[in-house]
Formats: sequence, structure tokens, C-alpha cells
Amino acid sequence: MTAVNARAVEPYWVVVPAAGSGKRMGADKPKQYLPLLGKPLIVHTLQNILRWPGLAGVIVAIAADDSEFGNLAEASDPRIHTVTGGAERADSVLAALEYLSTLAEPDTSVLVHDAARPLVASNDIETLIGPASAAIALLAQPASDTVKRASAENGTAVVAETLPRDQIWLAQTPQKAPLQILKDSLQAGLRENPAAITDEASALELAGYRPQLIAACRTNFKITQPADLLLAEALLTQQRTQQGEPS
Ligand code: CTP
Ligand code: MG
Repeated sequence: MTAVNARAVEPYWVVVPAAGSGKRMGADKPKQYLPLLGKPLIVHTLQNILRWPGLAGVIVAIAADDSEFGNLAEASDPRIHTVTGGAERADSVLAALEYLSTLAEPDTSVLVHDAARPLVASNDIETLIGPASAAIALLAQPASDTVKRASAENGTAVVAETLPRDQIWLAQTPQKAPLQILKDSLQAGLRENPAAITDEASALELAGYRPQLIAACRTNFKITQPADLLLAEALLTQQRTQQGEPS
């Protein structure tokens, strides 16, 4: 990442929720610790984040029973802090924000980025942290497939309607907002309608904000199921080849 001058970017913190158990992956350990080209998935994500220009620090939310994070070399990086996460992703993010409030000013910009997204493109990060983006913004992918809303009929799913595709975006991370606004919005959202708070933007929307959508590369998918690991390995191998690194 060379196009953005780190001094031209307002410093920001990154929160990495990494306290999930990876049920859909169905592996014998949480997906963030599964090997991806010889390194745990979360190591790829953290090494990527540590290269972002203007980074002030990282808070990783890990599970109360996590026995792996402390063994990683990144655990002793002075820029990386840890907190204990909670039952849902939003609880983990909130725990990190509460800790961050003891270190940073209320108007500090925070980027929340899933541990399970190792492949976010540096160009998209540059856009998100750059001067042209709004204070409250997220990476997202415009839908490329035709999108159906489903309803149940005789025990099967049927199409209720086809949604206008040009209005559909799939939310990714990072999602960016000022610390105090994000914390207040998540707290209010978890109080009022916890099931609806599946990302930061949903809490911010509920609080009346209109997050900016920044079109991002679809390689920033969230590793969720076993096939996603294969795809991520193929993309990382191709990146290494392009950069002339040994694979
Ligand atoms: N996460 C978290 N705390 C939770 C649940 C999820 O910090 N209580 C994190 C995950 O570790 C992941 C990110 O939030 O990095 C996105 O969540 P998801 O992809 O749903 O991961 P899991 O919850 O681990 O997976 P699953 O839903 O399949 O169990
Ligand atoms: Mg989950």
C-alpha cells in the first residue's frame, strides 16, 4: 500500500471481533485458527491490518475460553490489545469499544473488521480511510445475482418477490464510525432489538445514521464454510505469485 501517505490519514483504531466458534465451518477449532497457507487465518488478517497507513492500534476480542491467541507472535505486538468477547458478535465489538474508550478520545475513528476476512484489498482500505469517505461508512459489494425474497409454502421456500438488484448491496467489513457514536448506537441497538444488530451499520441505522456504502472487491468475502478456505488459499497463492514471493 503506497498510494496513501500515512501522515495524510487521521489516526484510527481497528477492532477485530475474533470470539466466534465457527459453527458453520464445522471444524474442530474456531475458524480463525484454521491454517491458511501454513498460517492461522487470523494471522493473515492481523498482518494485513498492521500494514494499513495511519493505524493507531488494534483491539482483538477473543473468546473467554480461547487457548490459541496467546501463542501467536502477534499477541506480543505492542500495537495489538485483547479483550474478552461476548455471546454475539455485537457483544464482542462492544467489549472492545468499552476498552478502547479508556485509551482514545470519543471522536476517534474506529474500523471494525472481521477476523474471518483476510483478503480485504488495500485499495478499498485506502478509500475507506481516505479524505473522500464519510465519517460513517462501510465496505460493501453491489449484488451481482438477481435477488429473491423468499416465503414458505407447503414446507418449501418459494419466491415471494424479486428485489430491484441495483438497490441491493452485501455488507462487508471494515465498517467505520467515530468511537462514541458507534458505542452508543450498539448499546441502544442491543437494548432495543438485539436480533437486528448483525453488523455495526445496522446499529447505526437504527440510531438514525445513514452509513455511506463504498463499493469493494468481492474477494473480501467472509470465510464461513469449508469451500471458502479453498477459495482464500487460491487467491492468496495468486497474490504471492504476483508479488514474486515464494508460495
Ligand atoms: N465473532 C465474535 N464474537 C461472537 C461471534 C462472532 O467476535 N460472539 C466474530 C467471529 O470470530 C468472526 C466475526 O465475528 O471473526 C464474524 O462472525 P461469523 O462469521 O458469524 O463467525 P462465527 O460466529 O465464528 O461463525 P458461525 O456464525 O458459523 O458460528
Ligand atoms: Mg456467527
